[in-house]
Amino acid sequence: MMNVAIMGYGTIGSGVAEILEKNKETIRGAAGQELSLKYVLDLRDFPGSPIEDKLIRDLSVIEKDPEVDLVVEAMGGLDPAYPFVKACLLAGKHVATSNKALVAVHGTELLQIAREKNVNFFFEASVGGGIPIIRSLYRCLKGERIKEITGILNGTTNFILTKMDKEGWTFEEALKEAQRLGYAEKDPTADVEGYDTCRKIAILLAMATGKETDYEAIHTEGITKITDTDFKYADKLGMSIKLVGSGRIGEDGRVGAYVLPLLIEKTYPLYSVSDVFNGILVEGDMLGTSMYYGSGAGKLPTASAVVADLIEAAQESGRNVPVGWTEQAQTFRPFEEDVFRYFVRLNGSLEIRRKELEAMEGLDIQKWVLPDGAAVQEGFAILTGPMTEGDFKKVSAALDGILTVIRAA
Ligand code: HSE
Repeated sequence: MMNVAIMGYGTIGSGVAEILEKNKETIRGAAGQELSLKYVLDLRDFPGSPIEDKLIRDLSVIEKDPEVDLVVEAMGGLDPAYPFVKACLLAGKHVATSNKALVAVHGTELLQIAREKNVNFFFEASVGGGIPIIRSLYRCLKGERIKEITGILNGTTNFILTKMDKEGWTFEEALKEAQRLGYAEKDPTADVEGYDTCRKIAILLAMATGKETDYEAIHTEGITKITDTDFKYADKLGMSIKLVGSGRIGEDGRVGAYVLPLLIEKTYPLYSVSDVFNGILVEGDMLGTSMYYGSGAGKLPTASAVVADLIEAAQESGRNVPVGWTEQAQTFRPFEEDVFRYFVRLNGSLEIRRKELEAMEGLDIQKWVLPDGAAVQEGFAILTGPMTEGDFKKVSAALDGILTVIRAA
């Protein structure tokens, strides 16, 4: 038998406790022994809950108990998650976390400590909720040179954009429902501004390249400027708007990476990834494209990935599984070199402005767009041909009356 301690009894922590109990026999079979919950560390009281008698408030109880082999970190944030996880690894315990901020900021150091202590620091649940994308990268795709990873990596924003697109909900209504369903971060700014996706794509790029990936170097935009009017135009174009995180790894080793709302065609593989689901495309040099799909957030899907990490730690006890990356730093290509098509919504009348726009140097207009029944005061839009971000910046500086710019795949 191996004992488990859970740090943080919120959405994910309570989900882990629930799965350890509900799937006890399955887990025993997979791990080769029982995984028994011994402690739950939380400052709050949970009267009447099944873990009431396991509640502790002091980390040192876990740290000093030689019977605790496996620790779950489900507190979120960096403080005290970072010092607590570090202390547990230093005490020779395996740690499984769902905390992408922790992994993105302190992953290099925590992975190194795990190697030195011959334990494991696992973080399957930190990206894509219940989707086994991390394990796919360090097990199944190990023989590939990964060329690209592009994903819808945030359940909350995908839920919001889907509800705005398909149900006509407002941004606020959809966000409130995502919070009620337990998808959103404590502070949903991290979801809607793209910071959560940014940390996740940084983790995936670090996994794919073996190099520490500074998430702050990734160009990041969120979805707060997307309106229902933009969706009317997207509909007219037969496209949808998704928040994606993407990284393309060149043969020279440099990475082009971004997080932004992207207009995608119906034929694009991520088009049908809706609601809280996440989808991740990975292109390898031998396999070609593979796609990973599933519940990207929520209590039990995310907790299920944490439990899988506990099982792997139990199976590999006494051995550090080669996972993650080293302190060698990732090198990035400038965002200005990335190529997109550009959807530009403009003020004024299409008929009056057509000549002016057609005459503009460097502006290749593929489509003129006016949604059915659009009010004249809402203007019109154009979709450009492919151009670099740097070139678009120059052209757009000379373009009057821009209301919205959304990049298109
Ligand atoms: N807030 C995150 C999301 C939770 O919505 O995807 C899962 O990481």
